[in-house]
Amino acid sequence: MIKRITLIAAAAVALMLLPGCGGSDKQEAASVQSFDEIVAARRSIRDYKEGTTITTAQVRDLIATALEAPSWANSQTTRYYVAMDPEKVAAVKELVGAGNARNTANAPVMIVSTFVKDQSGFGRGNQANEIGNGWGAYDNGLSNAFFILKAREQGFDTLIMGMRDSDGLRKIFNIPDTEEVMAVISLGYRASDPNRPARKPIDDIVKFF
Ligand SMILES: Cc1cc2nc3c(=O)[nH]c(=O)nc-3n(C[C@H](O)[C@H](O)[C@H](O)COP(=O)(O)O)c2cc1C
Repeated sequence: MIKRITLIAAAAVALMLLPGCGGSDKQEAASVQSFDEIVAARRSIRDYKEGTTITTAQVRDLIATALEAPSWANSQTTRYYVAMDPEKVAAVKELVGAGNARNTANAPVMIVSTFVKDQSGFGRGNQANEIGNGWGAYDNGLSNAFFILKAREQGFDTLIMGMRDSDGLRKIFNIPDTEEVMAVISLGYRASDPNRPARKPIDDIVKFF
């Protein structure tokens, strides 16, 4: 009896090793995207699928990846205010201008990104160099970059919006004056594939010495 069970188990393992019979592991491996594929697939999306939902757990995963971004002295000053509730989402959409509101109409989640001032780029309260709080903005952009690329890897789409009413956003999320309001980021699923806006030739932006 034991011999027969062992034989059946061995046959099952052999079957799993056959091409196309690998179960979920094989399917997951097939869907792994390279970094370049993720970068190529990410676009600013201005047309979202209607009726989709995204969970808090899914957003937390993206934020966890954003936390892995480097920051000045590991100061980690970027903050995220995530509107999940439809009323809150609608309130944010009213503060990004008519064009952005139209383009994010069906995005189920809207996120406001801020950074805590006077920390990144500062040492013992003194500005470390001429950039000052620009380093907080720099760290914020790095964090957002990690966020949007992780979002794409997870099958989500985003639009970063610099056109927004920061005072209005402060009110609806109780964002303190100690933080600078940066971008609003929509999160959802694309309804259509946009073209890739042209990029400059590499030699326009680099000088090697
Ligand atoms: C800081 C920043 C602010 C932006 N603000 C807006 C915006 O308010 N509305 C918008 O439609 N796109 C906005 N964008 C998206 C850019 O237009 C877009 O990234 C650029 O055209 C390149 O397209 P791609 O993201 O598809 O590669 C912004 C992007 C960044 C990084």
